Amino acid sequence: MLTIAIQNKGRLNEDTVALMADAGITASASHRKLISEASGFPLHVLYLRDDDIPQAVAMGVADIGIVGLNEVLEKEQDVDVRMKLGFGACRLSLAVPKSAEYTDIRWFEGKRVATSYPVILRNYFSENGIHAFVHEIAGSVEVAPAVGMADAIFDIVSSGGTLIQNGLVEEETVIRSEAVLIAHPHLDAEKEEEIGKLMFRFRSIIESKGMKYVLMNLPKQRIDEAVALLPGMKSPTVMPLADKEWVSLHVVLHENDLWDKIEQLKNIGAADILVLALENVIR
Ligand code: PRP
Ligand code: ZN
Repeated sequence: MLTIAIQNKGRLNEDTVALMADAGITASASHRKLISEASGFPLHVLYLRDDDIPQAVAMGVADIGIVGLNEVLEKEQDVDVRMKLGFGACRLSLAVPKSAEYTDIRWFEGKRVATSYPVILRNYFSENGIHAFVHEIAGSVEVAPAVGMADAIFDIVSSGGTLIQNGLVEEETVIRSEAVLIAHPHLDAEKEEEIGKLMFRFRSIIESKGMKYVLMNLPKQRIDEAVALLPGMKSPTVMPLADKEWVSLHVVLHENDLWDKIEQLKNIGAADILVLALENVIR
């Protein structure tokens, strides 16, 4: 049976448990447990600190894991990144006090920078020829400048609220991150097959995010115009109605262009338009 390592608490825990639930897998959300057996898929769930997940997967304690790409890059463990999971988006950025007269990255020359991501930061400074002092601290990095421990910080930024609260300004974005599925690099065929099934479920959930199922009635002679407007998965589904002059048209649209398309369809005579939430796209 596969063992998956997920975050026991913190920023990715809830979304991870929700993704698994959407995939029909019930895992206990409790961070008091270390390991439990899921239902809905043959899976052991190991609850760890995010910092420990890359190593657990590299060692084979867990076969796969869900963790932020930021942790994967920081820990430099031998794991395969199998897929992006579409949640937990954040960036790792350099931020300086509001009062600093920031020019460009050369500002950091000789400065002290507090971070929980020393590996990524040292790599970034060395790629850019900057000599700075990287101070590793475990948490509350954002308060380091105010208490005189550092001149700047390098940390996770998501909404940006933490920076604002602490009088800091984001100046350089070094890495963009999101939750990813990682795997031990050498797994047997049986486990790979199980991972394939899991990824299939995750992919269909991710792909259906933001998709809507749209039904409408359309005068029969406008079908060609409608088809031209709608780059559907194949093409829109057209179904006859009792009234021979009209058809029912069904199409899957992304919410980004939903309203544009609906306007265009109305312009060619579409009526009685229904927009439904779409749970899953299985290809
Ligand atoms: C991160 C980071 C900041 C905050 C930024 O901490 O260290 O404190 O999130 O988010 P914001 O831009 O939305 O305010 P996190 O909650 O991940 O906890 P951790 O540092 O203990 O991992
Ligand atoms: Zn952490």
